[in-house]
Amino acid sequence: MKNRTIYLLLSFSFFLISCKQTKSPYSIQKSVIADKAMVVTAHPLASKAGLEIIKKGGNAADAAITVQFVLAVVYPYAGNLGGGGFMVIRSNDGSFSTLDFREKAPAKAHRDMYLDSLGNAIDSLSRFGHLSVGVPGTVDGIFKIFNKYSKLKNMDMLINTAILLAENGFAITKKQAERLNEYREKFEKHNSHEIAFLKGNEWKEGDLLVQPELAQTLKRIRDQGEAGFYEGETADHIVAEMKKGGGIITHEDLKNYNSVWREPITTNYKDYNLITMPPPSSGGIALAQMLEMVENYPLENWGFQSKEAIHLMVETERRVYADRSKYLGDSDFYNVPIEELQDSTYLAERMFDFDLQFATSSDSVAAGAITMLQESNETTHFSIVDDEGNAVSITTTINGAYGSKTVVEGAGFFLNNEMDDFSAKPGTPNLYGLIGAEANSIQPGKRMLSSMTPTIVTRDGELFLVVGSPGGSTIITSVFQVFLNITEFGMTASEAVSAKRFHHQWLPDVIQIEENTFDSIKTQMLESMGHTVKISNLIGRVEAIRVLPDGKLEGAADPRRDDHAEGW
Ligand code: GLY
Repeated sequence: MKNRTIYLLLSFSFFLISCKQTKSPYSIQKSVIADKAMVVTAHPLASKAGLEIIKKGGNAADAAITVQFVLAVVYPYAGNLGGGGFMVIRSNDGSFSTLDFREKAPAKAHRDMYLDSLGNAIDSLSRFGHLSVGVPGTVDGIFKIFNKYSKLKNMDMLINTAILLAENGFAITKKQAERLNEYREKFEKHNSHEIAFLKGNEWKEGDLLVQPELAQTLKRIRDQGEAGFYEGETADHIVAEMKKGGGIITHEDLKNYNSVWREPITTNYKDYNLITMPPPSSGGIALAQMLEMVENYPLENWGFQSKEAIHLMVETERRVYADRSKYLGDSDFYNVPIEELQDSTYLAERMFDFDLQFATSSDSVAAGAITMLQESNETTHFSIVDDEGNAVSITTTINGAYGSKTVVEGAGFFLNNEMDDFSAKPGTPNLYGLIGAEANSIQPGKRMLSSMTPTIVTRDGELFLVVGSPGGSTIITSVFQVFLNITEFGMTASEAVSAKRFHHQWLPDVIQIEENTFDSIKTQMLESMGHTVKISNLIGRVEAIRVLPDGKLEGAADPRRDDHAEGW
């Protein structure tokens, strides 16, 4: 036992030294070429910890488990134990699978739980605090991955870095300090106890964030397995927290949680094969629909962000998001027409009224009117390729920034606000301005619809790209654009990820763009075609790994924040 502790502390010290403390806490790498393996995540400590596991003989699944645990410590904004996610995994024998560890509605949840006596949706209830929380799936997901795919078969080794980072603390980046300060009031409002994320004065770059309660939770998971989260002390803390704030998750909900292996959505685009996420994500189906709709147009000739390319992509997005609002939900509860939505004849019909010169009004695609995005839309993605050619693409979330903003007293982690991804009331927009219908209504045990689109692409049977993004409703269009940037517009992964993005989601009927995406001439051209263009927040944060023709790996971390690529 003593030897084990000394070994773990020594390896942690080497790990921290390798994180090159400079003026800013970390030197961040955005674009990396490597021979053997690559890990790209939202935080340098997570990328480094994941790669360390591969160097110690672990595979991509082992690295993914470590990354998920480390992100839960160093990236509380979206990394999590208290949320859920999706994994697409491709083994080096060419087989692939997807894991759904999405949160579920608690047994006491019901269709109208977020409506007032007049039947109006009360947004604050589904977005903040205890009632907005779905039953977390992350820890169950981690153990499913561990049991099926781990090569090391040693949970101690996989979780250790996260425990030490929680226990000893880590230096926060400038952006992390800014965000913690920005959310201070919300943390105070939704927590009646002391939490690690609040301190007497403002956070600043380089401050240590120490999370002793989270370290104890991680140790319980290490020592007791899944039961260390879904039963015993951690479960008691979660249920007690629920009772404090009108939440409804019970011990039974926690004990009954199960993640599920699902058949992937697979689709071809020219000579590429995409393997992506089925329901309860809308991401895979929507991506497949968009690609089929644009495949026969001369995108390459038109060029990157040419007027014609933007118009075509926007018009496909308009139609696909209209379908999403009506047909997509948890296929365990609702008969999602998975095949029909991807049918070539159906998709050709959807594009029948596409006019190369003029925008189609969203009113003529379907009815409704909603408001623009307001809150930051968070989630996080990581991409991993190991030295044996196995690949993992995971998108994981607590939904909004810091989820429900509520931290479990005694257990130290943020709970999700994923219940807001249900359609609280048909036609009423959620956090992302998305509207839904019966397919995504609330039912006990049902999973809320997601846009997460973890994706793996092969070409001629060989691994080509591992990709995904956070960004709520903009996840799907971010992945769509990065894929086309590489395959049609000849960009490197890094250029494709860095390129400015635009987004349309049927309603509101506007093209949302990042600042400086189009110049005024391009904007005027689009407006003269009938489009409305509006500047929005950042769109997506894509982490990608591309296999180059010579077999080397190109890691591309999104330049928009602290994201980091670590190669071997
Ligand atoms: N919570 C964002 C998503 O799942 O799409």
